[in-house]
Amino acid sequence: MSEDVQGQATDEASESSESSEATIAVHWREEGYIPPPPKFIGQANASDPAILDRFAEENFPECFREYADLLHWDEYWHTTLDTSNPPFWKWFVGGKLNASYNCVDRHLAGDRNKAALIWVPEPEDEADAVITYQELYRRVNEFAAVLQDLGVQAGDRVTLHMPMVPELPVTMLACARLGVVHSQVFAGFSGGACGGRIADSGSKILITMDGYYRSGDLLDHKVKADEAVEAARKEGQEVDKVLVWRRFPGQYSAKTPMVEGRDVFVDDLLADHRGAVVEPVSMPAEAPLFLMYTSGTTGRPKGCQHSTGGYLSYVAGTSKFYQDIHPDDTYWCMADIGWITGHSYIVYGPLALGTTTVLYEGTPNYPDAGRPWRVAERLGVNIFHTSPTAIRMLRKVGPDEPAKYDYHFKAMTTVGEPIEPEVYRWYFSTVGKGEAIITDTWWQTETGGFIGTGLPGLFPMKPGSCGPAALGIYLDILDENGDSIPKGSGKAGNIVSRAPWPGVFQTIWGQPERFVSTYFEKYNKDSGSTDWHDWPYFAGDGAVQSEDGYFRILGRVDDVINVAGHRLGTKELESSALSVEEVAEAAAVPVVDDVRGRVVEMYIALKPGNEASAEIEGKVKTAIETDIGKIARPKNIWIVPDMPKTRSGKIMRRVIASVSNFTDVGDITTLANPEVVDKIRDQVQSAKRAKGEEPRELSETEEHEIKTYGEQE
Ligand code: WTA
Repeated sequence: MSEDVQGQATDEASESSESSEATIAVHWREEGYIPPPPKFIGQANASDPAILDRFAEENFPECFREYADLLHWDEYWHTTLDTSNPPFWKWFVGGKLNASYNCVDRHLAGDRNKAALIWVPEPEDEADAVITYQELYRRVNEFAAVLQDLGVQAGDRVTLHMPMVPELPVTMLACARLGVVHSQVFAGFSGGACGGRIADSGSKILITMDGYYRSGDLLDHKVKADEAVEAARKEGQEVDKVLVWRRFPGQYSAKTPMVEGRDVFVDDLLADHRGAVVEPVSMPAEAPLFLMYTSGTTGRPKGCQHSTGGYLSYVAGTSKFYQDIHPDDTYWCMADIGWITGHSYIVYGPLALGTTTVLYEGTPNYPDAGRPWRVAERLGVNIFHTSPTAIRMLRKVGPDEPAKYDYHFKAMTTVGEPIEPEVYRWYFSTVGKGEAIITDTWWQTETGGFIGTGLPGLFPMKPGSCGPAALGIYLDILDENGDSIPKGSGKAGNIVSRAPWPGVFQTIWGQPERFVSTYFEKYNKDSGSTDWHDWPYFAGDGAVQSEDGYFRILGRVDDVINVAGHRLGTKELESSALSVEEVAEAAAVPVVDDVRGRVVEMYIALKPGNEASAEIEGKVKTAIETDIGKIARPKNIWIVPDMPKTRSGKIMRRVIASVSNFTDVGDITTLANPEVVDKIRDQVQSAKRAKGEEPRELSETEEHEIKTYGEQE
């Protein structure tokens, strides 16, 4: 147990009201600790505090050998960390390995007939697919043979736009077997969004599926492939082949016709490769394994490039110690593989450790709020992983459901958003039945794996805090000048990681300068330095650290709104709205929501000569759905007479955000047009009240976010 963690809950409300950009006083009540149940500690992968010494700073970077040694290396590395070209860190240099071999082949000897994947289709009367390691081996090899036949080679990029079906991990692992870089795009994203990512990554092949179930409907997904190919073409990228898996092999579930010469059914191609075996290509540790796109401050999504050796080591190590995965566990992460969580903690981490990982096709509350607990009971799931949004939703629609089912978790995870202490307590006592630990894991697409979280057998839980830095990670909170904010001061700042770690992304695909400027420039004092101490990683989140060393994450400090745990770039939303002819200006702001954390509201000002109408609103909505996807649909679109602006013409997003959240708009004397604020407030708030969207009191941190929204620009 950490020396810091002791004692009772304290009231840490700070008196300070200092308010520079990064340094704000954060007031909140410290929550009490919940100790891990002894039964958990008794079996935990990390229960001896000696592990903390092994990963202490004086042992950096060699401490990460312990993670890398969880893998099979074809060639052992000679340099653990190469810092010669900062901040493009290289881990395990000289080492060679194959990710597919590590996740599949090496488990055959001892666990050939153990379930690797259990797929639960959304329709409850459809049988699970239980895929053993042997069966996974067969499928991965056969699909790798298909790819090989198409001439795909190590280093090529291939875009996947697949739903939650076992064919998705099979496709990823087949790519990995060949050293091909996969770029999976979340299936809920539009064809247009997929096309942009195809073009950015230079993929010539798109792999998709005809359809999948979502909330009871069999969706036509293939239609998005046609849109994606078209969108990529507009950006100068031709797609030669679209490989279409079929939800029901031999039977086409989409209405969209196949395009002659371009589109092929994967089950047809597989017929020629039955029993094929493809040698795994031994890849350098620093070869890219995959790209995962995420949103940032500009309209162009960032293709985060993850490495083979560093990434796989890091997700294997964190799956072992933080998810507490043992080979005989049945582990279920309810995220979507289309996000980083699914890559690291449904596919690569759990399979590298040779456990059984569950995949669920559909929505958690389909057909009712008991579904997840029925799945857990039936499959004997003992480790459960989900997001605060899913927990809030399941609590809202079925607060008493978990008690009706006979399942027992030993460990649970929360990820993606801050979790309110009240929601945390329901998760602990009702979902976990008071028997399971909760690991609150703070991390990002960029970080590859958890970087802020406590070892569950060694650190007590504290609702609302993710915990201390993960093993071998050295987190700090800096103010705008780069000075460290002492823990326990009650002041918030920007959370950084002082040192590199094996899971950190290698670059932004095709934009290395953006990689440096977004994540490292802010706190780098000497761009010529090859000493990693000079290159703190700027995560883009605000945070505060309490006396015990635990971090509490406050949310993004950039132009990203975290909706239901999904990062939406406001610039992407706004540029999509601006593509509508009548629209002159657009501003997206966050609104606090009881289930989804935040939702987006869009403010629109029209070009002269246009009148507000439902038709224009509809056009904006359609534009966003086409460019990004339905998940980005704003909750409300407000067409206003004018935007509140500074004299230099900057839209004051904090003012409209405050209006949308029914909170005080603050000082508006610096506006060029302060009179517009009353008009907007009357219009928006009366419309909201008419729709039953009543104001609710914001917590201090929520209020801070809203009142300062957009001020960092
Ligand atoms: C937020 C998801 C509070 C944070 C793995 C981060 C969290 C962004 C937590 C990354 C947590 C993630 N507590 N906030 N435990 N985990 N976040 O890239 O703002 O989709 O920067 O990765 O989610 O989102 P991303």
